[in-house]
Amino acid sequence: MSQMRSITITRPDDWHLHVRDNEYLANVVPHTASTFSRAIIMPNLNPPVTSVELALAYRKRILSALPENTAFNPLMVLYLTNNTTTDEIVKACNETNIHAVKYYPAGATTNSDAGVTDIKNCYDALAKMEELGLPLLVHGEVTDPDVDVFDREQVFIDKVLLPVTKKFPLLKIVLEHITTKHAAEFVTDSNENIAATITPHHLLFNRNVMFKGGMNPHYYCLPILKREMHRQALIAVATSGNQKFFLGTDSAPHAQDKKETSCGCAGIYSAHAAIELYAEVFDEANALDKLEGFASFFGADFYGLPRNTGTITLEKTDWQVPDSYSFAQQKLIPLRAGEIIHWKKV
Ligand code: NCD
Ligand code: ZN
Repeated sequence: MSQMRSITITRPDDWHLHVRDNEYLANVVPHTASTFSRAIIMPNLNPPVTSVELALAYRKRILSALPENTAFNPLMVLYLTNNTTTDEIVKACNETNIHAVKYYPAGATTNSDAGVTDIKNCYDALAKMEELGLPLLVHGEVTDPDVDVFDREQVFIDKVLLPVTKKFPLLKIVLEHITTKHAAEFVTDSNENIAATITPHHLLFNRNVMFKGGMNPHYYCLPILKREMHRQALIAVATSGNQKFFLGTDSAPHAQDKKETSCGCAGIYSAHAAIELYAEVFDEANALDKLEGFASFFGADFYGLPRNTGTITLEKTDWQVPDSYSFAQQKLIPLRAGEIIHWKKV
């Protein structure tokens, strides 16, 4: 008789998550909270979360969307603008529930219009963050329309990020949702202050999936999916045991009608099955023994937070993802909607 395969790991954290706001929270926060102990909450609301006061109010709304008896700690992030003051950085550092500052190049992605037009405008803020040890989280894509959309991460690293790392060598930086071999190599070769998150979708899919049999808007996200060669490079670093690489889903819910339209939003929803999707990737790579470090240890270590103490158990069992979830009055189409996932949290 074949034995059920299972794996028990320390409770994981999600180091890059979008939960939106208000009436949407109750449909998405429980998915994450059922598996993860903590999550870094992205501040790209409209209007964005640009102050400590806004971040703490947002945190309260997230907590009030939790089911009863659910322990979940939303780790809040400030949205960097051209006008973020050093006073606000100091305030953020003194606030235990704020853990980072997010840099969106203006116009790079959903709700990034208030983002930074030139990172030099933020050098005072970055210097203060470097001094106080507050991490900078980076959406690493240039917005220049002359740069091919598939090259925007590489150009960002070479033209924007490299100079920042040279000027602020002690600044802690997370290059979020990396998608290319170039990014994997850049982070590997950088000093210990530079780390990266990797999403389940960039580990599972290459860009072909967007066009399989037609246009598939539910695979459209930013940074956009890349070639197979890049996916392989991401799998290699994610499963390597290198502590610079850790779990960040970038689960980014948009209502069905905002995805299936003539100009659809970027974002893939994966919070319903996040750890299971990563387990598939690590299993496929014969590296399940590396999942715990990636999902549960390295992010906490980088952020200087204690590792979690509880555990979760995953079994190799097929289950079918629902065709949709409720999303306030609308619908949310999850990753792998209606399809089978081979691992299940028990
Ligand atoms: C994110 C969103 O919808 O907020 N979308 C996405 O495709 N990842 C924004 C982001 O992280 O770029
Ligand atoms: Zn994101």
